[in-house]
Amino acid sequence: MPLDRSPYAEVADRPEAAVALPGQAYVDRDVFAAEQVRVFRAGWAPVARVSDVARPGDYLSVDLGGAPLVVTNDGGTLHVLSRVCRHRGMPVAEGRGSAKALTCPYHLWRYDLDGRLAAAPGMERSTVFDRADCALPQMRSEVWGGWIFVNLEGQASPLAPQLGGLAERLGEIRPERMVTADVLTFPSPWNWKVMLENFLESYHHIGPHRDSLQKSNPGLSTYEGVASDLFTVLENPPADDSHGAFVVAAIFPLTLMFFTQGETPLGVWYELADIETDHFTLKIHLLAPPEFAAVPEFVALYRDQVTAIHLEDVPACQGVQQGIASPLYRPGPLSHLEQPLWRFHRHLEQAMGQVASAAGA
Ligand code: FES
Ligand SMILES: [Fe+2]
Repeated sequence: MPLDRSPYAEVADRPEAAVALPGQAYVDRDVFAAEQVRVFRAGWAPVARVSDVARPGDYLSVDLGGAPLVVTNDGGTLHVLSRVCRHRGMPVAEGRGSAKALTCPYHLWRYDLDGRLAAAPGMERSTVFDRADCALPQMRSEVWGGWIFVNLEGQASPLAPQLGGLAERLGEIRPERMVTADVLTFPSPWNWKVMLENFLESYHHIGPHRDSLQKSNPGLSTYEGVASDLFTVLENPPADDSHGAFVVAAIFPLTLMFFTQGETPLGVWYELADIETDHFTLKIHLLAPPEFAAVPEFVALYRDQVTAIHLEDVPACQGVQQGIASPLYRPGPLSHLEQPLWRFHRHLEQAMGQVASAAGA
């Protein structure tokens, strides 16, 4: 995509001057193709919770930036591997499970959980086959906050040192201690950025959530807390003493998290899976300390609450996706309550621009 067509070229350099992104950012397949490379593959993206692959032998398939991956627990060491067979490209794993090795279902090439090719039947006459050369590529990964993050291009700065302010803010919440109590799946026919933008402002509490969140955490009292080029925190103070504060945070481009505060902090991770230009699958992970995640009545209640809030957001996301596709749409100014959106847009502008110049564009 030539840079002069970038929908991110006009992002304001200060929040008071911020406007929404042009509709092209949400509907153009060339923009999405560039995002796959410059944003998803160049940045750090979450692929699983550590607790999803807790036991040796556990594996979990995920797709990111167009690349099929598999996360493995190899005797306690976590790996993120390409799951594309080094023979003729068949995925060597689907879904999740537990295994001693990953065996490609096509011609039964067998890989150890660290990606090394252990066996390949019928290859002894090939003069170009070298078992050591046929490992599944291993991706650069890092564990932070209980998530496994991957950087597909391998060039990003280490993640944890960039997240000091966020780690400090989440200190007592201790997300790394939380496990997945349940996962709710919603097909989501809107661009991934519509979801992030909805998640990253509580201005809309006064609209879709007027009978729920607006009563406990009024939208007009929310504000951006600690933030950087890589993350933002949205503070949601309570209406009064009978309610609790909650915190929304994002690590750009794809990690969306929500935490309640107080004695028993609970969390939510919005995983955006199978992302395409105009849709993705939303997997809402309910996170809780293990002692709460093990209580079915508690999990059922939590599931109902989170589902109800998300269903209030669905018409807004659907409506926005329709509206921004209109030839008559012009981006409007953003409120100070939407400062995290401006920060997200700046991240996109930098990510899309940097790679273009690195490539000599
Ligand atoms: S494609 Fe995997 S063994 Fe042939
Ligand atoms: Fe919402």
